[in-house]
Amino acid sequence: MKLIAAILLVTGGTCAFAQPKTPAKLDKEGHPWWQHAVFYEIYPRSFADTNGDGLGDLNGITAHMDYLRKLGVDAIWITPCFPSPQVDFGYDVADYTNIEPMYGTLADFDRLVQQGRKRQIRVVLDFVVNHSSDQHPWFLKSKASRQSEYRDWYIWRDGKPRDPNAPPLPGIATDPNAPAGEDPPNNWTSLFGGPAWRYDPGTRQWYYHYFDPAQPDLNWRNPRVHDAMFNVVRFWFDRGVAGFRLDAVDTLFEDPQLRDNPPFYPPNELDAAGNPLPGAVPPKDPYGMPLQRRIYNDNLPENHVVLQQLRQVADQYGAVLIGETWTENIAQLKQYYGQGAAAEIQLPMDFLFANVNRLSAPEFRRQVGLVESSGGWPVYLFSNHDITRAYNRYGGQQPSDQVAKLLAALLLTLRGTPILYYGEEIGMENRDPVSREEVRDPIGIRGWPLEKGRDGERTPMQWTAGANAGFTSGKPWLPIAANYQTHNVEAEEQDANSVLNFYRAAIRLRHRDPALVEGAYVALNQDDPNVMAYLRQYRGRAVLVALNMSSEPQTVRFDLARQGYGAKSRLHELLSSNAAAQQKLSEVSLQPYGVFIGEVLR
Ligand code: NOJ
Ligand code: CA
Repeated sequence: MKLIAAILLVTGGTCAFAQPKTPAKLDKEGHPWWQHAVFYEIYPRSFADTNGDGLGDLNGITAHMDYLRKLGVDAIWITPCFPSPQVDFGYDVADYTNIEPMYGTLADFDRLVQQGRKRQIRVVLDFVVNHSSDQHPWFLKSKASRQSEYRDWYIWRDGKPRDPNAPPLPGIATDPNAPAGEDPPNNWTSLFGGPAWRYDPGTRQWYYHYFDPAQPDLNWRNPRVHDAMFNVVRFWFDRGVAGFRLDAVDTLFEDPQLRDNPPFYPPNELDAAGNPLPGAVPPKDPYGMPLQRRIYNDNLPENHVVLQQLRQVADQYGAVLIGETWTENIAQLKQYYGQGAAAEIQLPMDFLFANVNRLSAPEFRRQVGLVESSGGWPVYLFSNHDITRAYNRYGGQQPSDQVAKLLAALLLTLRGTPILYYGEEIGMENRDPVSREEVRDPIGIRGWPLEKGRDGERTPMQWTAGANAGFTSGKPWLPIAANYQTHNVEAEEQDANSVLNFYRAAIRLRHRDPALVEGAYVALNQDDPNVMAYLRQYRGRAVLVALNMSSEPQTVRFDLARQGYGAKSRLHELLSSNAAAQQKLSEVSLQPYGVFIGEVLR
């Protein structure tokens, strides 16, 4: 990466073997653009509708480019906007190199990129690497016959005769099209419920799908699949895309022998040697299937080889790869960064941070400390189109704007790249469906009521207090969240104390103060159960961040003698909320969920 970036610099952004559309500009410290950028995720279906069909579209994003500029974001990640039957709302791609007609055209997309570029906003797309739609021509040809030249583009196998002594299968595990007495090739379960195999009566074999049956897994062991997918990446990079968010990167490869996964038992059901205690039964997933450890179809070492190759292509364009990297621990997350010639994803998302589901200074401190120690450049986010909105998750029974501001302060003052989820900046709340009939998400339909699905975090963006929150002149595809009359862009722009104005101020501060981007992270008062505090130290300056994660007022004292600051040192406020402006190191006072960010002055 470094070598290529250096070549790009000396040649003024181009070199013999690559035509970068987005040159990898480095700052004085040698940092590339994606370390400075604030990213903003857009779910296009829900952002802004310009043609009244109740679904957001690309022109809707373009129309709000000035809003995004004013917010201060540097890059937008648009979730899949490619032609798709929309079974999983775009994560079932039927054509990787075109735009879904309900979202617009390639010309609309080019205009969006161009309008973004005018405002220094880069565009990142979503690359659904693991699977296509079952309506993709590749799959239709693959399914056509066992002899098809596309057969091996997906994973097809014969079923197994059912053991007559085996207990009957739960309803969800029964494929009505399969011949009586035949079971899938192995015991793998789908993340979206039921077995991970679907029987095809036409060719009398089963195909594998980690997610929905409408999302058959591509066979990455086939070099033609590999090449076709790499051509997709180049197609979009050549069109000016600044990077990709890589969907489900841990599921690319499967065990070639398709061995059965072992059952999963919670730790309290295991003996000291890790064997299940007598009578232990694996718990069930929300769809009724026994949980298993996905050791044969998740996180295989081969995934990393593809990521290294993708990185090489991305580097030729100065582009970024953002990983949907669900990991169990930091060691696993670390692997996704790779190293040197084997570099992988620049920005693997730290879901361990997003998994801290309550406001807890010790837990956030611990997670940030762990990711800091990994040596990689951290990537922080609170929610996305698969995760309940932060406003509710951290706000408890009575979500408050003050908590939303505290979250903004944390996200935007840590060392690492922040990713905001659309609507987070105005305090949008979740709106879960109230009945199964209302659910649109396939996992909510299949898993109701234990799994309500993800509609709640995908409701339309709230632009105004008017009809349909100003999202559409038609009927919105999902109901609007209840707080739109108070939490919308128009109202919050007028209110100096709004969540929106706090986000804007925090992003502005991040952009202006190099300590917040480049500065070292130094945790302070590590025993404090309520206040998370840290310094960002950079070139002899120190910015202090103190966040009261409790519902009680707190007073904190800092000892920065080692950094050369005595107890009389003053703090020059840079941004605060629910905290006094004049503060001293010997006594920083924060009201409930109060935020204080200030430069330490000797
Ligand atoms: C992860 C995406 O974020 C999610 O929305 C989708 O359903 C699955 N991958 C399958 O593509
Ligand atoms: Ca796969």
